[in-house]
Amino acid sequence: DSVAARKGATFHFGSTWDTSYSSAEASWTTNVYNTFFNHIVAENGCKWQSTEPSRGTSSLTQCLGVQSYAVARNASFRGHNTFWHSQLPSWLPGSVTASDLVTNVIPQHVQQEIQGMGSGVTSWDVVNEIVGDGVSNGMTALQCVQNKNDWPTKTADGSGTNLVTDLSFVHAAFSTALKYAPASARLAVNDYNTGGNDAKTACMFQVLADINANAAVPYNRLAVGFQSHISAAPGQFSAKSDLANNFAKLAALGANAMITELDIKLSSATSANERYQAAIWGDYLDACLYASNCFEFINWDTRDDLSWIGASGAGTLFDTNGNPKPAAYEVAARLQRY
Ligand code: G3I
Repeated sequence: DSVAARKGATFHFGSTWDTSYSSAEASWTTNVYNTFFNHIVAENGCKWQSTEPSRGTSSLTQCLGVQSYAVARNASFRGHNTFWHSQLPSWLPGSVTASDLVTNVIPQHVQQEIQGMGSGVTSWDVVNEIVGDGVSNGMTALQCVQNKNDWPTKTADGSGTNLVTDLSFVHAAFSTALKYAPASARLAVNDYNTGGNDAKTACMFQVLADINANAAVPYNRLAVGFQSHISAAPGQFSAKSDLANNFAKLAALGANAMITELDIKLSSATSANERYQAAIWGDYLDACLYASNCFEFINWDTRDDLSWIGASGAGTLFDTNGNPKPAAYEVAARLQRY
């Protein structure tokens, strides 16, 4: 909390909460939230699969449940996500035409979710993972998104053709989000492998500029969410300056940066690797803390055996016995030092 105050009462530092926890997992996680975090995101509960199980039906029970849990902890809540190719409801994809998608399906979903979740949301991942992994430098925003070989770039109507002939599905999502989100909520394009200085990162800037220009979303409402699912490998240390540069470039535009899903996978949980992991964790935190435009930092999963990468990846702050790892102490020290 003192860090939040020093950063202007707005520094949100937290982790995931999943509605599938056992009662033992839930009570352990609650202890950590009560002492260590002030920010919460639903790991799965706000995804399209959960929130619109049949077309036009809004089902926010799980998402609202996580938001209420955050409120009960005196923590803030961020929204993940309104649009992603994964964890879709079974009625989608395969059944909608490109024009139905843009005109009806996406705006309706974004509106019913964002409006339904109301004011208590710091930021929304409006679109998640829309940039391809095979992009190259110099690509336009459209080429960057067409390169993503997943729904709806692959197909929305079941025909197998690439339906993305323009970015109107992204514009529809963002203009709807701008209309219905709380005025203070940051609206994010969220993606992985974007912390470096490479073609995918360049694509994120292209896409952001396109949204600003064509969906009329002002930069001060826009954010790039840097998921940051990384491994503790030697090259990762360069991420410190790359991240800082990317955050500064966004600040120059007037846009926000956020670390949305940090986990750091290890090849094995040796003490040397854990110290290495701790140093990288600290660098990521510092990149956000010392940036003028970074106010949200989410660690993705809280305990190694609750992590989507599996316990053997040892990618979180707490070990399988629930004990803090060197990275947890490092993070606490960096927060103190700020
Ligand atoms: O809910 C069902 C349950 O009914 C069923 O019995 C069980 C059997 O497999 O599966 C349950 O669904 C699982 C779901 O998590 C909820 O627990 C899915 O199988 C499982 O695939 C899903 O994994 C989630 C994954 O996204 C899906 O791609 C992870 O928990 C979640 O951490 C992960 O998060 C993503 C972010 O949203 C976006 N960025 C990448 C990140 C890591 O993959």
